[in-house]
Amino acid sequence: MQGLVLINGYPNGEKFYRQGERIAEELRALGVQADVLRNGEVYATLFADGKISSSVAQKYNFAVYLDKDKYLGRMLEGLGLRLFNPISAIELCDDKMLTYLALREANVPLIKSVPAPLCYTPNVKANEFFLQKVSQELGFPLVVKKSYGSFGAGVQLVHGMPDLIKAGNEFLHEPHFFQQFISEAAGRDIRVIVIGGKAVAAMERVAKTGEFRSNIELGGEGRTIALSETVASVAEKAARALGLDYCGVDVLQTQDGARICEVNSNAFFEGLEATTGINVARLYAEYISNIFKF
Ligand SMILES: Nc1ncnc2c1ncn2[C@@H]1O[C@H](COP(=O)(O)OP(=O)(O)O)[C@@H](O)[C@H]1O
Ligand SMILES: [Mg+2]
Repeated sequence: MQGLVLINGYPNGEKFYRQGERIAEELRALGVQADVLRNGEVYATLFADGKISSSVAQKYNFAVYLDKDKYLGRMLEGLGLRLFNPISAIELCDDKMLTYLALREANVPLIKSVPAPLCYTPNVKANEFFLQKVSQELGFPLVVKKSYGSFGAGVQLVHGMPDLIKAGNEFLHEPHFFQQFISEAAGRDIRVIVIGGKAVAAMERVAKTGEFRSNIELGGEGRTIALSETVASVAEKAARALGLDYCGVDVLQTQDGARICEVNSNAFFEGLEATTGINVARLYAEYISNIFKF
């Protein structure tokens, strides 16, 4: 059994490389051969007759796919590699609004959201009639989010029409949506790691003072918590509905119970391991190696 741990082809920080190395190390400790390679070192060709070939990838039985590149991912699956996570699940998670629409069918509690109309036209302004309707639907303050975004970077809180119009124009040419602000969860969320449909680790994340986003990258602090049955089951349900082997689910606690904020197919575990003392990489490696034991 030979595995590939695939990371993005362009430099984007040591953290990405370390995540790959940790998984490979735990796989090797279980007797599974694993190489960490970058997209670009691993490449594939699609031929006119629909065949796919890749001299590098064809040596491997599976890939722990830590990239979000849907093209190479689909080609590796076309070559017969088992991807952790399946590329269809990674694609769904990459787009937060598409994630919600998939979760909706699984009856997972969500946060009230309105997608912005996609805009392909240069040199135009956001539709103020639509933004007015959004403000009536969601009330202020409300949250504006890029559909594709990480580390809190594409998430803003807006307090009135002028701010909303400003954000609408700023995000106009990127898919984005508007969302009810969960004030009782401001600055706090629960990050739950789910592996093979089971919640295996969790921490509370508390934002730094004056910040409503609890992302660690924005100065949020990870704290240990006892994971409640309800939060665990909402996170597990979301992971299963999306077809994920591994993910980090962001859960907001509201007056009406736990709700899914987003599901990260490629969630980092380094901070969570440090906070909880749980070896997430080993649990993931064990799950992967068990899949190939029959
Ligand atoms: N609707 C909301 N109400 C309150 N806080 C929110 C809401 N949406 C996001 N947040 C806060 O902002 C953080 C980042 O949002 P999230 O959707 O997870 O984006 P990212 O992918 O950038 O992490 C969340 O972890 C949470 O702390
Ligand atoms: Mg998040």
